[in-house]
Amino acid sequence: MENTNKFFFVSLQKNIMSKILVTGGAGFIGSHTVVELQNSGFEVVIADDLSNSNENVIQQIAEITQKKPIFELVNLANEEVCKQLFTKHSDITAVIHFAASKAVGESVEKPLFYYKNNLCSLLNVLENMVQHNIKPIVFSSSCTVYGQPKTLPVNEQCPLQPAESPYGNSKQIAEEILSDCTKATSIKVISLRYFNPIGAHEAAMIGELPIGVPNNLMPFITQTAAGIREKLSVFGNDYNTPDGTCIRDYIHVVDLAKAHVVALNRMLKNQQKKSIEFFNVGTGKGFSVLEVIKSFEKTSGQKLNYQIVGRRAGDIEQIWADPKFANEELGWKAEKTLDEMTLSAWNWQKKLSKIA
Ligand code: WQD
Repeated sequence: MENTNKFFFVSLQKNIMSKILVTGGAGFIGSHTVVELQNSGFEVVIADDLSNSNENVIQQIAEITQKKPIFELVNLANEEVCKQLFTKHSDITAVIHFAASKAVGESVEKPLFYYKNNLCSLLNVLENMVQHNIKPIVFSSSCTVYGQPKTLPVNEQCPLQPAESPYGNSKQIAEEILSDCTKATSIKVISLRYFNPIGAHEAAMIGELPIGVPNNLMPFITQTAAGIREKLSVFGNDYNTPDGTCIRDYIHVVDLAKAHVVALNRMLKNQQKKSIEFFNVGTGKGFSVLEVIKSFEKTSGQKLNYQIVGRRAGDIEQIWADPKFANEELGWKAEKTLDEMTLSAWNWQKKLSKIA
């Protein structure tokens, strides 16, 4: 067996010994991460309350990877339920924690729900990790912790700004909880600060499944093109940017999913340099709303019906990542282009809407 295949086989064998708990693993980013984990030989337990997804995602993951993950329908904010989960799966070797509510606007209307759901879930998971001597956790954080950075691109040393929403604040508080936890226990953390994940797996069998009217730009674009929404409202074109619309660092969800597997392996191989590490997971490129629309029209061949309206409360003007630390320290780099992102999002929407 030639060396490269042998190396792959050996690393696959090692991963088969590792059972990973993926909380929120039926969600948009979670499901794509489960695909990458299973393709890398890990055994996966998905714990999800399906509040923002549906159970057929589990079957879709099985079809893509030829392996069905274990699925536990649980609400991790419930202490007793979480305890039973860890007792049942006491052979878990690591956790990837996605489970949280993440709609910025909704969090302003329901702050108590957001703090309770997002923070109680995390606290319950951490308590049980300590109880079962499970050390590694990869945490789903967000670039929202930076607010509107004073300098761009933003790196991990950039000071955190007061959060613009209870959602963003719950991520900041969560990072503080994790940091304190590493000082008092043997828990190790890698916190991945996502920028704007969009797109879908090339099989178009999993993707973003917004419930109700989408908050985020990409699903609103694809639903407009599919005729589900009448038109896209572009929230403001009077910002201090080249075309007046907000700029974000859009990253393909598969690139983001792969970053989780790299972070997990870093911890399983004891390569961490600190007990808690933070990484910006972005492409390093910023695109405006109008540039995303232009890319979508090009890749989908669909003319998008949109109008410019007033600004959306809470929006920051522009942010994009300096991904150098993740590129050099993790050895991970986003590979997919904006066109690949918008095309994959459209292919997924066509599948959802049964458009040929
Ligand atoms: C992007 C741009 C809008 C909808 C999201 C998540 C947040 C975090 C980061 C994970 C903005 C504009 C949008 C629409 C529009 N992710 N827009 N019309 O606000 O950057 O934050 O990613 O932690 O949880 O919410 O993403 O897609 O909502 O907006 O013009 O109908 O698109 O103004 O400039 P955002 P978004």
